[in-house]
Amino acid sequence: MHNIKFDFNNMLSFNVGEKHGVTTGELQKLSKTIQVAHEHLKKLIDTPLDRINLGLEWTKLPFQDKKDIQEIQSLGEQIARDYKNIIFLGIGGSYLGLKAAQDALCPPYYNEFSALRKGNPKVYFEGNNLDPETISALLLNLQPSETFVVVISKSGETTETKVALETVERWLKQGVGDTYGQQILAITDTESGTLRSKVNQAQAADPLGYRSLPLLHGVGGRYSELNMGLLHLAIIGVKIKEVFAGARAMAQRCAAESIYENPAYMYAVLQTILYKHKNKSIAIMMPFSEGLKATADWYAQLLAESLGKKYARDVSADQQGLETWSPNKNKIVNVGRTPVACRGTNDLHSIQQNNVEGENNKTVTFMRVENFSSDVKLPPGDDLLAGRSYSELIKLAQEATEWALVKEQRPNCTIIIPKVTPYTWGELIFFFEMATAFEGELLNVNAFDQPGVESYKNYMYYKLDKPGISKDLAEEIEKHPVEKKTEFVL
Ligand code: PA5
Repeated sequence: MHNIKFDFNNMLSFNVGEKHGVTTGELQKLSKTIQVAHEHLKKLIDTPLDRINLGLEWTKLPFQDKKDIQEIQSLGEQIARDYKNIIFLGIGGSYLGLKAAQDALCPPYYNEFSALRKGNPKVYFEGNNLDPETISALLLNLQPSETFVVVISKSGETTETKVALETVERWLKQGVGDTYGQQILAITDTESGTLRSKVNQAQAADPLGYRSLPLLHGVGGRYSELNMGLLHLAIIGVKIKEVFAGARAMAQRCAAESIYENPAYMYAVLQTILYKHKNKSIAIMMPFSEGLKATADWYAQLLAESLGKKYARDVSADQQGLETWSPNKNKIVNVGRTPVACRGTNDLHSIQQNNVEGENNKTVTFMRVENFSSDVKLPPGDDLLAGRSYSELIKLAQEATEWALVKEQRPNCTIIIPKVTPYTWGELIFFFEMATAFEGELLNVNAFDQPGVESYKNYMYYKLDKPGISKDLAEEIEKHPVEKKTEFVL
């Protein structure tokens, strides 16, 4: 099996200079910090209660019971045989991993051409926005009797997902009658949340209605593709065990303490040095592959929600060493690199100008695919492009982009993917998750919560008169209105 590789030559000073690149001395200086971060992360991963309580259970997902996986594989294949269309409802971590898998592992134009789908259903994603136009158009054009709905929400409370589910439920009910619940499957927490209550009630009325799959405890949304995304993989005809094999192979590489053996640690360490000491606060993620753009979007969420934090993390431990993390309200850090997802070669005619000549405040991570599933060769002739293949040209463009950045002393690195397969994609996902977790250790923030996302939700709930809004929150909203003066609106 050919594994993905991490090429970090262009993050180092010998290529981009000491002002903008990492020196071996800087890596050496950090060795104690790296050792402490490794030992802490390893202890958390090896301690089941810490893993679950603090949100690191995702590290064990690639090692899940084969029987459970086979059941999900069969269920997905059954649904795929029975329905022409599947709508997945979910947002954030309950959407981006699925979309990333869809685009990476299915052929382009999958929905448009049945030969490309190989008998599998068309796949649509909804509930990831409150924009009314997409869901209206979709429901107007699908047949309820031919459509199955998978709703995904860990909390079971997310507004976007709830709104979409109610819309789709009504549409299904109007189309197929009272048995509509048999065309809905929920992936949610085993115990809590409105969605779980709904499942329980529906199943009491009709055991065939609202089937459900559990979301495991201790796995946050953005780290849960290998849990909540499995049914989707089965529906699109991907062998889950191949994704797991790749993720396991990466998990084994990422268990090493040495940054020279552990690609995720090296990625995190280099990014952290450049961020903390050389002003590289923008994280450009640029796959040279159309299919991997959604994986870059997934990474953008992973990085932003995991590491963009106001407070430093306070760690305390009980007598058994079990940890509790809390935000240190006396230590405002406002950290986190800002992700930008783009794609080569498309964005060479857009963002690349700024990458090369704009402020030198970013690192660029490329994903380079060595072998594509299909290729096109240009006809022979006199032109310099004659006889060349697309794959040759896209790889040359990636190489040229590296060169252009290095020439201007812009640090960049490349993840080399032998071919995008379920195996290498599984490796990729785990690599980024582990790199983000390790970066969280180096920054000393909680990489597994997202308190900043709550404030917009609270404002909406307050305005929607949701019961149970606390007096403090209501006061805070009333006392801090956004001032809108008409003279400042042109
Ligand atoms: O990573 C996360 O935890 C979030 O992005 C959530 O996935 C997102 O907010 C959706 O939440 P839920 O799955 O509870 O509907």
